[in-house]
Amino acid sequence: MKYKASSPGIAIDKVVTVQANSNIALVKYWGKRSIGEDCSDESLNLPANSSLSITFGDELSTVTSIVFSEKLNEDEFYLNDKKIDLDEKEIQERFIVLSKLRDIAGTKLRARVVSRNFVPTASGFGSSASGMAALTFAAAKALGLGIETSRLSEIARIGSGSACRSLFGGFVEWERGNKPDGRDSVAKQLYQETYWPELRLIVTALENPKKSISSRAGMRQTAKTSRLYKERIIGAEENIKVLKAALREKDFEKVGEITMQDTMMMHAVMLDTRPPIMYLNDVSRETINTIEELNRKEGRIVAAYTYDAGPNAVILTLDNDFDKVMETLRKINGISKLIVPGIGGGARVLDESQSIIDPNTLLPVSGE
Ligand code: PMV
Repeated sequence: MKYKASSPGIAIDKVVTVQANSNIALVKYWGKRSIGEDCSDESLNLPANSSLSITFGDELSTVTSIVFSEKLNEDEFYLNDKKIDLDEKEIQERFIVLSKLRDIAGTKLRARVVSRNFVPTASGFGSSASGMAALTFAAAKALGLGIETSRLSEIARIGSGSACRSLFGGFVEWERGNKPDGRDSVAKQLYQETYWPELRLIVTALENPKKSISSRAGMRQTAKTSRLYKERIIGAEENIKVLKAALREKDFEKVGEITMQDTMMMHAVMLDTRPPIMYLNDVSRETINTIEELNRKEGRIVAAYTYDAGPNAVILTLDNDFDKVMETLRKINGISKLIVPGIGGGARVLDESQSIIDPNTLLPVSGE
């Protein structure tokens, strides 16, 4: 990766705090390209198909403070007041982002990173999306790198695929691209967060939503063993085209139809993986049946469900039907909470008062 740092202004001992929000894909990414014609390195996280998402409001976000300091001998990472072992393989793979940005800035300075997740971790809401977007954005700012956001999305993508979309607000497409070095596999905003004010999101938070397998490991397994996977890649690219046209027209029924088809297609491929990957549980299935029943009764698509790598649904509906959909969801046993996030903006710098690293001691501020 060749970038030029447009500003040499590394903020040594100066804390930078940012916020990034999670996102939900309507056409999902599940599977990386394997080494060959259009992929030179698996760790680049190059997707087999394009994806399209909506960025959540601040209700589902990560706040990250970062400081680069000569006083630090190694990187440190605190998540929700707990020190995280950076030698752990999955964390290490994600923190490559920090090394990439350091290389671009031409520095060896170590960083203290303090994050607070307002996304329930490992529940399938995409805490890695907001987390890695926040880390990438914060580190780039602290290192004084004037890289434009779409280029930055190339780096966030390495930490977590869905993170590249969270750098932007509103409706975001992550284009698959074709180059083996991933230079054209970047996110771009299609529409701002204010584009479709009548569109509402509801997240069903389940009582016991622990994830069974990480998406990274799951994707590898699917690409290796699923016979339906090839069809899925073709289907997802078709879905992107139809979804983009439906969004342009603000055609809710079409958006809903594609959203439901795409999530079920992804989960079908997961089931076709050896050993099968099952993120949905009984409550998820009951939610699907309930929404299908509501749509059947109404004779139109009133609500649409979508599931990432977890059992919690994100439901899409329109303002006029919102109360009816909420009432229907409240009757489902096993949903402990309904969260109603807005559609939010991209990653941004917060002011000093929101720092979670003490600017004087450079130590984490406890959330207690
Ligand atoms: O962000 P990753 O690399 O953990 O992949 C997440 C993939 C899904 O959330 C399941 C789908 C998507 O496109 O967000």
